[in-house]
Amino acid sequence: TSGGVPHRVRDLTLAESGRHQIRLAEHEMPGLMSLRDEFGPHQPLAGARIAGSLHMTVQTAVLIETLVALGAEVRWASCNIFSTQDEAAAAVVVGRTGTPESPAGTPVFAWKGETLEEYWWATQQIFDFGTDDSGAPIGPTLILDDGGDATLLVHKGVQFEAAGGVPEAAPGDSHEYGVILGVLRDSMQSDPQRWTRIAAGIQGVTEETTTGVHRLYELHRDGKLLFPAINVNDSVTKSKFDNKYGIRHSLPDGLNRATDVLMGGKTVFVCGYGDVGKGSADALRGQGARVIVSEIDPINALQAAMDGYQVARLDDHLGEIDILVTATGNENVVTVEQLQKLKNLAIVANVGHFDNEIDMAGLESLPGAERIEIKPQVHEWRLPTGTSILVLSEGRLMNLGNATGHPSFVMSASFTNQVLAQLELHTRLDQYPTGVYVLPKFLDEKVARLHLDALGARLTTLTPRQAQYIGVPSEGPYKVDHYRY
Ligand code: NAI
Repeated sequence: TSGGVPHRVRDLTLAESGRHQIRLAEHEMPGLMSLRDEFGPHQPLAGARIAGSLHMTVQTAVLIETLVALGAEVRWASCNIFSTQDEAAAAVVVGRTGTPESPAGTPVFAWKGETLEEYWWATQQIFDFGTDDSGAPIGPTLILDDGGDATLLVHKGVQFEAAGGVPEAAPGDSHEYGVILGVLRDSMQSDPQRWTRIAAGIQGVTEETTTGVHRLYELHRDGKLLFPAINVNDSVTKSKFDNKYGIRHSLPDGLNRATDVLMGGKTVFVCGYGDVGKGSADALRGQGARVIVSEIDPINALQAAMDGYQVARLDDHLGEIDILVTATGNENVVTVEQLQKLKNLAIVANVGHFDNEIDMAGLESLPGAERIEIKPQVHEWRLPTGTSILVLSEGRLMNLGNATGHPSFVMSASFTNQVLAQLELHTRLDQYPTGVYVLPKFLDEKVARLHLDALGARLTTLTPRQAQYIGVPSEGPYKVDHYRY
C-alpha cells in the first residue's frame, strides 16, 4: 500500500504511458463515456463495492474508472495470468490526480506473467475492502466476473466452510485446482467463516464470458447459486460483437505479434464455429488462409459449410495444418496424440477461455518433450517424434497473452452492458431473485444506439403506421426475445 491505495502491479512509473493509452481508449469507447455523462451526476453506484476479476487491460481501465465515476468503490484483479497490460494497471492505481509516489486511484492486484499461486492470491485481494469502525472486515456487494473465477472462489469457500474443512486434491484434479484448495485451506485457518460472511454480503454477479455463464447456469441448475447473476455475455451487443468482431481483430494481432508468420496461403484449422470461431475463421480467411472448421453441433457445422468453409475432423487434417486455433470453450479438444501428428513448426493457439482446450497438462508431462522459450508467451515444444510445434501463451487466451485483447470500440459495447448490469443489481435488486438473467432487450438496444453516432451510422425511424404494421413500439424493443440476429 502507498498513498492509501492498496495494490500490487508491475511498476507504478508505467502509469503515464497507461494514462495516455486510456485517454485514447476513452475516445473509442462512446458507450462507457455516455454512461458517465448520463449517470455520473446522480452517483447511482454509491454504496456499491465491486470486486472485479477481468483482464486488466487499457479498456478495462476505462470500465473501472466508469464504475468509480458512477460512485462505486472498486478493487480489481485480472482473470488470466498473461492478460494484464502493466501500464494500464499502473495508471488505474495512480489515478488521474495521483503520482507514482502518491497514488490516488483504485486498488489493482494484477501484472503480466503471474504464477498460478500469485493469480489466486490476487483474486482473494478483491474481496477485502478493509474494516469498519468496529474492526469488522468489509466485503464486496457485487462481483464483476470474467470466466467465473471470483464467483468460484466464493462458492467453493462457502461449501468447504459449511463442510468444516477443505479436502485434499484428488489424483485427477488439475494443478490449478490444488492451488485453489491451498488458498482456501489457508483462509479457513485464519478465518473459518470468511467466505460465508463475504457471500452473505454479495448482492449479485455480472458475468462477461460464455464459459463463466456456463458455470453459472450449472450452479443454478444444481441449486447451489448463492446470489443472482446477470449473464452479460448473452446480451446481443456483447456476444455477437465482442466474441465475433473482437476476435476478428485480436486473433490475427496475437498471431502477428507472436510469430509474424504470413497467414495467406496457409492451412488453418479452427475448432468450434460459435461466435468466437466465426470471427476467427473470418479473420484468417480475410488474410488469404485456407480455413477448415470442426464442429460437434450440426447447426453450426452447416453454418460453417454455408459460409464456404470446409467442415472436417481434426484427425483427418493433422499433417497439413499450419495454424491450429481452438475456440470451443470445451476441454481436451486437441489431445497430446494429435499435437504430435502436426506438421513441423505448426502454430498452436487457443482463444477459448481456459487452458484445457489444448491438453497442455498432457504435453507438459509427455516424456521426452522439451520446451524452449522463443520469447515470453511463445514456446517451441520439441516432441519425441522429432517434430516441433509452436505453442502460444502456454495454451491460454493468446489474443490477450500475445496481443492486447479486443480493441476499445467493441469492448465499449461489452462493458456498457457490464455497467448497466451492475446498475440493475445495485439499484433494482428486488427484480432479481437468485437466478441467472440477461439484460432486458431495451437496454441491449440502448447499448447499440450509443455506438452508432461514432461510426456515422444514421438509424431509420419507424413511422407510427409502420410500427403498428409490424407490431412493435416505435421506440423499441424491435424484436421478440428469441430473435437470433
Ligand atoms: P459458443 O458456444 O458460441 O461456441 C463454441 C462452439 O464450439 C459451439 O458451437 C460448440 O458446438 C463448439 N464445440 C464444442 N466442443 C467442440 C469440439 N470438441 N470440437 C469442435 N467444436 C466444438 O461460444 P463462444 O462465445 O464462441 O466462446 C467460445 C470460448 O471463447 C469460450 O470459452 C468463451 O468464454 C471464450 N471467449 C474468448 C474470447 C477471447 O477474447 N479470446 C472472447 C469471448 C469468448
